[in-house]
Order: sequence, then C-alpha cells, then structure tokens
Amino acid sequence: MHDKILPQLDAKFSSLYGRTATIVAYAPGRVEVLGNHTDYNEGCVLSAAIDLGTCFAVAPRDDARVRLTAGDLMQTVEFPVAAPERSPDAMWSNYVKGCIAGLNERFGAPATGFDAMFLGDIPLGSGLSSSAALECSALYALAALRGVELPPLDAAKIGQKAEHEWAGVMCGLLDQATSVFGLKDHLVMSDFRSCECKPVTFPSDVCFLLCNTHAKHALVDGAYNERRECCERAARFFATALDHPVRALRDVTWAEWEEKSGEMDPLVAKRSAHPIGEGERVLAGVELLRSGDIEAFGRLMFESHESSRVYFENSCPELDTVVDAAAKIPGVLGARLSGGGFGGSAVGLVRRRDAETAAAAIASAYAKTHGTPCEVRTLACSDGARVVRK
Ligand code: GLA
Repeated sequence: MHDKILPQLDAKFSSLYGRTATIVAYAPGRVEVLGNHTDYNEGCVLSAAIDLGTCFAVAPRDDARVRLTAGDLMQTVEFPVAAPERSPDAMWSNYVKGCIAGLNERFGAPATGFDAMFLGDIPLGSGLSSSAALECSALYALAALRGVELPPLDAAKIGQKAEHEWAGVMCGLLDQATSVFGLKDHLVMSDFRSCECKPVTFPSDVCFLLCNTHAKHALVDGAYNERRECCERAARFFATALDHPVRALRDVTWAEWEEKSGEMDPLVAKRSAHPIGEGERVLAGVELLRSGDIEAFGRLMFESHESSRVYFENSCPELDTVVDAAAKIPGVLGARLSGGGFGGSAVGLVRRRDAETAAAAIASAYAKTHGTPCEVRTLACSDGARVVRK
C-alpha cells in the first residue's frame, strides 16, 4: 500500500531533486482470477487489484523539461515534455513516456515540465502488472499536475496504448482496467466489449494466495503477441464458418468450437479453445459467486489452468508444480496461473482459516521439485488507483 512506499520515495525524491513532491498518486497491481486471455478477445474477466503497487511522485518545473527517475535503480532520464522519445537503454522509462505522449495527444503539450520519481513493491516479472501500476500511477499524478479530469477508463486506455506503442506488447485492457477500478474486498468483473467494469462481492471466509514462482521464460512478449494473432485468425475463421456475426472469439460458444474445430488449422483450433472456454467459465463463475457456491468456483479455477496448460500452452513447469501441489492440499479450493503466463505467479483460492498452512505446504512442495522456494503470501483485494497527495 502507498503508506509503506511513500516515506522511502519522499526521502529519495528530496535527496535527488532537493525539494518535496507536491503530487503523489498510487496504483495497484492486479491478480487475474478467472478469464485468461479473454480481454483482447472482447470477453469478460474476473480480477482484483492487489495490496502491492506503485507510487508516482511529481513536482512542477518552470521550464519545459522532464526529469524522470526510477526510484529502485536511481536511474534518471531527461527529455522535453512536449516530445518524449523511446529510450532503448532505459526500457522502464518508455511506459511513462508513452503515458506523457498520450496525455499530450489528449490535452495538448503543457508549457512546463516536472521532476518525477516512482517506487513500488510489486516484484518485477511476477505477472502482477507492475507496468500497468506504473502507467496508472503516472497518469493519475500527471493529470492532477495538469489540473485536468481523466476518467478511469480513459486512463486505462492511455496506459494500454503506451504498452502497445512504446513497449511493443499488444496487451488487452485487463491490467490497467483492474488497476483503476479495483475495490477493497471485491473482485472486478470486466466486460471488454462494453468496457463496463463492475465490483463483485466476494465471501469473507475465503482469500487468495499469491504464489510467485519467480520463473521468467524467454520470449514472453513475443509469445503473447503470437497467441493474440492466433486468436484473431480463429475469429476470422469463425466469422466465415458460422451463420451469425463474429467480431471476436467472444462471439463463439464452446458448442460451436466443438462443431467446427475439425475444419480449422489444428494449432489455431487448439489455441482458440482456451479463450472460448474461459469466457464461459467467467460467466459461470459470476453465477456461482452469486449463489454462494465457492467450491464450484474453485473448481473452475483448476479447469482454467488445465485449459491454459493443454490448449494455450502458456503455463510452464513451475506454475504447474504450484497448481498440482495446491490441488492436493486440504482447504485449497482452486488454483491457476494468473496473467499472461509463461512464468510469473499462480493464484490459489483458500478458506481463510487454512491459508497459512496451505501457503507453507505449497512452498515446500515447490522447493522439493525446483530446489528453490516459491514465495507464497495471502492477498487482499484492494482499492484502485488514486491521488494520495495533492
Ligand atoms: C497480460 C495482459 C492482459 C491479459 C492477460 C491474460 O496480463 O497484459 O491484457 O491479456 O495477460 O489474460
């Protein structure tokens, strides 16, 4: 949470820039609970903002320059606020530069720049959307600095565009939308066709375990983009094969997939099974939450992981170890990979009273197989992005 990060950020900010930040915004990372790779297929996702995030601190300057510092590396880049350019040797800066470019496009380039620094507690490469937290915290702080109104959904979309155009990852809107629409003790149900994101209540006697494997497999971004292209090819196939309009895989049912998949390129068929099945699992999951059947909800999480593993092949041995171990531990109701996949984190669903023992059991099962421990902690569903000092 921001109150843990802020004292350290303030100290670093004033020692580097010789003054105090006037505006600070905070944005959380996210965990994806159900609905893997459905967002860019215009489908639905259940997710939550987590209790880890990024603080972005700014103070205005009199000239039109920006000094931007990554508080963990204490690396600074400088550029004119009206014309940020992509920086190949400070990749981290591109997420913020993309956001500045997005704000300039929407509100015009400002006459004056700023000094900025950010710091967060989301472990990098953990699949918890540290980049979305950076984008959203930067956007909230910079909108406040400009004194402009930036609705949450618009902020999310500017962040997503920064990923596409400045980082080369063709992500959906899930990470940024969850970061801005998160609500304490709730899940967020997002429909990425209508872009409606609503809070969903969650039983208080269960909680999530976050299992960070620290595994990061090569070519993650390339594999992500390749999966997305496969889904788009599948949607084009179904648009011609079915007798109703298909704009995205969202429009295809599991029954239609079963009927037509034999006529498709086998790899495209296999990949498309995942987001189609996931879309149906999210809708079923929402109903189960409504009716209070948390055990059946947990089973959907296991099914989701199996679908990732078999059809989308975006799991990895480390994530499979966590999920296999979780399935054998009493009190664990469900587990699956969370986010893009190919490494990063898995999320488990447990009865709150069993959380501690289950976390220890998962960590030790993981250590037995992989030699190194995996980090397991309970997660609190948290509020979304906000300005915390102004
Ligand atoms: C990453 C992307 C999201 C989403 C998930 C998978 O987190 O950034 O847009 O596609 O993977 O569901």
